[in-house]
Amino acid sequence: MVAAKTPKEFYTELGDEWLSRRKSSVQTEKELAYLTGLLKKGCKILDLACGYGRFAIPLAAMGYNVEGIDITPIFIEKAIDEAKKRNLNIEFSVGDMKRLHYPDNSFDSVICMWNAFSELSQEQDQVRVIVEIYRVLKSNGMGIVEVRNHRSSGLIKENFIDGYEAMPSYNHTRGSMKRLMKLSGVDGYKVFIDNFGGRNRLLLEIIKP
Ligand SMILES: C[S@@+](CC[C@H](N)C(=O)[O-])C[C@H]1O[C@@H](n2cnc3c(N)ncnc32)[C@H](O)[C@@H]1O
Repeated sequence: MVAAKTPKEFYTELGDEWLSRRKSSVQTEKELAYLTGLLKKGCKILDLACGYGRFAIPLAAMGYNVEGIDITPIFIEKAIDEAKKRNLNIEFSVGDMKRLHYPDNSFDSVICMWNAFSELSQEQDQVRVIVEIYRVLKSNGMGIVEVRNHRSSGLIKENFIDGYEAMPSYNHTRGSMKRLMKLSGVDGYKVFIDNFGGRNRLLLEIIKP
């Protein structure tokens, strides 16, 4: 049996140009507008699974204090290059969102966008990431996880993106996200469906008192 692809293998094969072609700049602008409506001006943000810096870079340009982490090294290289070109001071690192190297209470906000959370195929890993987000948030901090909204939940082993065989994906519904939060033991949260950049998406807001 052939082992399932990992996100790192999949994205390394297809590259940042392919990924950036999948999101128009208009779409990103709309999503940014939604996000900045939630984020406190100038706050310290961790962009979890930041990719090539689609949000981290414009947010830093707007005056937010941003750090980004992603498991795919070519994306982090691209993000570092782009930040340098634009003279932006952003700490980018290669790493796994399941094991964050940041101390407790480090960020005002943690964002995890564009279905990156669904690339965690095991429920225990998803719980672990929620606990990690909560841990690194400061008191009064807020985490935002944005995923596709599905009619039924569960693991999709044979997952294709743009016709390419991709890593497995875990589909979430409002109910399955709530179940996950119960398992994580984090009480402060909201799960809702909203028009995010023109599409209905499932959003999880984690609130640390
Ligand atoms: C669809 S991209 C979204 C990138 C970015 N959040 C955005 O909105 O442009 C999904 C990202 O999740 C990253 N990723 C997947 N699993 C990860 C993990 N365990 N830890 C860190 N990053 C991960 C991938 O490398 C990829 O960059």
